[in-house]
Amino acid sequence: MRSMVAGLGGQVRAATGVRVPDLSPAGELLVVGMGGSGIGGDYLAHLASLHGARVAGHKSYGLPGWVASARPTVLAVSYSGNTEETLSAVDAAADLGLPVIVVTTGGAIGDRAGAHGWPVVAVPAGLQPRAALGHLLGAALMISTAVGLVPSPVPDLEEAADVVDSLTASGGAGWALAGDLAGSLASRAVIVYGSTGLTAPVAQRWKTQINENGKRPAWFSVFPELDHNEIVGWSADRGLNGRLGVVTLVDRDDGADVARRRTITREVTANDVDWIGEVHSQGDSALARMMSLTAIGDMVSVALAEVAGIDPVPVAPIEDLKNRLREES
Ligand code: F6R
Repeated sequence: MRSMVAGLGGQVRAATGVRVPDLSPAGELLVVGMGGSGIGGDYLAHLASLHGARVAGHKSYGLPGWVASARPTVLAVSYSGNTEETLSAVDAAADLGLPVIVVTTGGAIGDRAGAHGWPVVAVPAGLQPRAALGHLLGAALMISTAVGLVPSPVPDLEEAADVVDSLTASGGAGWALAGDLAGSLASRAVIVYGSTGLTAPVAQRWKTQINENGKRPAWFSVFPELDHNEIVGWSADRGLNGRLGVVTLVDRDDGADVARRRTITREVTANDVDWIGEVHSQGDSALARMMSLTAIGDMVSVALAEVAGIDPVPVAPIEDLKNRLREES
């Protein structure tokens, strides 16, 4: 997993050369996909919104009711191509006659695409889905450009790749920072705080990477909403607070209102939150800043596994669950 994380920058760079088939223009996209494949849709939704384009996400069976009238183009992302919910979503899209574009390594969704004539962007096989974010998000960005929603992402992909490479270089600052954070968080469940906008989807990525690579409970919350509930949750410690740690993700575009809330929240909860750290984005473009925080989170998740002497790669509970679902269907 260490080498897969170190390959993230290379994946982002490789996306600049992704060959996208001819696509019809789209007024909006609905990204369907789960877990490590779905998170790229959350990143894309934010990045597209910066250009005034609408990208929504759907992480469940079927499709949301609004699609029948809005008729978005469905962008289905499944690394394996065999994820039950994503297959159900594209089947619903086919029933409604919606345009579908697929990003995958193959699997059943590849077969469906062949049968329906849906365009496919293939990504390299052989990775864990969550370790293919650079390929999956890169492909989704290139597709978003091809359907006319966002300008070319190539300059931002190149910058993001450089920023990520500098962080994930062996012996570099990123691994040292990740090791420090993992040392402090080793005996804690982690709550990652993001803010509406750029850091919210990245906070979710931290949570899922800490779950899957670090193999420990983790959650994420988002400013300003967390000020309306979560801060109360800390206030009557019943022996839990000392087992929790907060990592706050900070970006220059969080805005003055959120920055003010962050400071006051920290003061208001100072007696209750047992450990808190802050990680700042790096780079210029929004994509580079998102990917810088992503890279650090990925490294922290690996470092947490290493501290615990656990192999970060296998995700046995997910495999077991998928097998059970297959057997029982
Ligand atoms: C495993 C992982 C999972 C999968 C999810 C969906 O590394 O990250 O969250 O991404 O179970 O599977 P795919 O991505 O194959 O559609």
